[in-house]
Amino acid sequence: TLSGCGNDVRGTSATLLRSRRPLPTAFEVPLPRPAVRCPDSSGRLAIVQRVADVEILPGVKTQVWGYDGTFPGPTIETRAGSPVTITHTNELPVPTATHLHGGHTPSDSDGWPTDLVEPRGATARATGGPSHSGGHASMADPDANVSNGSRDYRYPMDQQAATLWYHDHRMDFTGPAVWRGLAGMHLVRDDHEDSLGLPHGERELPLLIADRSFDSDGALRYPSRDRTLRVPGVTDQWMSGVLGDVMLVNGAPWPVAEVDAARYRLRIVNACNARRVTLVFETGGRGMPLTQVGSDGGLLARPRLLRELILAPGERVDVVVDFGTVPVGSRVTVRNTVGGGSTSQVMQFVVARRASDDSRVPDRLAERAPGLTVPASAPRRHFTFAMGSDGGTALWTINGKPFDPSRALASTPRDQTEVWRVTSNVHHPVHLHLDPFIVIGREELGWKDTVDMRPGETLDLAVRFHDYAGRYVMHCHNLEHEDMAMMARFDVT
Ligand code: C2O
Ligand code: CU
Repeated sequence: TLSGCGNDVRGTSATLLRSRRPLPTAFEVPLPRPAVRCPDSSGRLAIVQRVADVEILPGVKTQVWGYDGTFPGPTIETRAGSPVTITHTNELPVPTATHLHGGHTPSDSDGWPTDLVEPRGATARATGGPSHSGGHASMADPDANVSNGSRDYRYPMDQQAATLWYHDHRMDFTGPAVWRGLAGMHLVRDDHEDSLGLPHGERELPLLIADRSFDSDGALRYPSRDRTLRVPGVTDQWMSGVLGDVMLVNGAPWPVAEVDAARYRLRIVNACNARRVTLVFETGGRGMPLTQVGSDGGLLARPRLLRELILAPGERVDVVVDFGTVPVGSRVTVRNTVGGGSTSQVMQFVVARRASDDSRVPDRLAERAPGLTVPASAPRRHFTFAMGSDGGTALWTINGKPFDPSRALASTPRDQTEVWRVTSNVHHPVHLHLDPFIVIGREELGWKDTVDMRPGETLDLAVRFHDYAGRYVMHCHNLEHEDMAMMARFDVT
């Protein structure tokens, strides 16, 4: 079913799935702004996961699985220190598990991959194990906490302002579920950040980037997960990662946005399954300077001047761009310098009008500079992300082991700083749940929860987990790698 060929994006040989219909013209569809949802006065918010027909490509309907029936889902906004309970109701035909990526969340609300919410009306499964028709060897999880129809996810929001996102996390099926639309942004705000004077309101834009491919009837294309169609001995064509040929921003193909000649704060998430992007903002053949103010886990210590933004799947960047520095009427094109063909462009801004601007980017951003002190006696662990096998089937593994919900690869006491050395055979965006980390030697990156590893690279991460004991996962955020078992449980005790 694949018409694609290997697409070597800096060391990842993922599979490019080509659309079977003519691609729309770039920079014609207006950039959508996802609906904003805030908790009510008692800290509650309800989201329904459902099937919906939406117009992504002009003139044709595409069926998506969406939070509130939209793709992306609504942008959830919460305040640091104000706990929120989000009730997710599942009206989809499949079980789901919702994870708040970047959330400092107790284990039982973290979207553990087998803590499923069964579709409303379905009978809860006795075993709790995921229903496999693909993925890696089926294993039941005796500790799975399965709910029927809906579930309350409790988020204490005991964390600083940051750009988070939420997405499906069901074991072995995260890739296809996110591809079909189960992803949205979640902004945590706090008083300190509010006091800085960064661009806000209309001049703060969440941008969720995702590549997708479409069938001739407008349906989303994703490789067949049916292993009976597999040629024996041949690795699943999708398992190295699936790339699309249509770049969507907030669910629109190569959109265009009119902006004032003023500073804008762009909160960008790479929600692609497997595509890393390198973004430049170009006008009149020249790149614009970009001021990074935040990273995965919140504000940087100081602003960082960049020419390009490199984002692997799962990573976020919070950046200020000053459209006041270019003439009114300018078109600023966001290009992806590592993308080929149709994926080398992402979106466009049109500087439509002069406007006053009282925003600013102060020299000091974070209240407390991101960092962890690593004592000489800090425990060290080593995790190797590489290809492995399970009973003769090729899989992605961590320390040679495919994901098994009942086996922890590490157990760490709360509030203990440790050094986790991570080694990667090919490109892997390595992601840890519960708390962000510091990449030792790359402190200027700030708090990270996902780090893009290059082929053969080894990085030391300073990690420290707070507050909540329980089981958590770390995994590769190339979602096909994750589904092909590149995930490990760690326990916080
Ligand atoms: Cu964005 Cu464990 O995932
Ligand atoms: Cu990977």
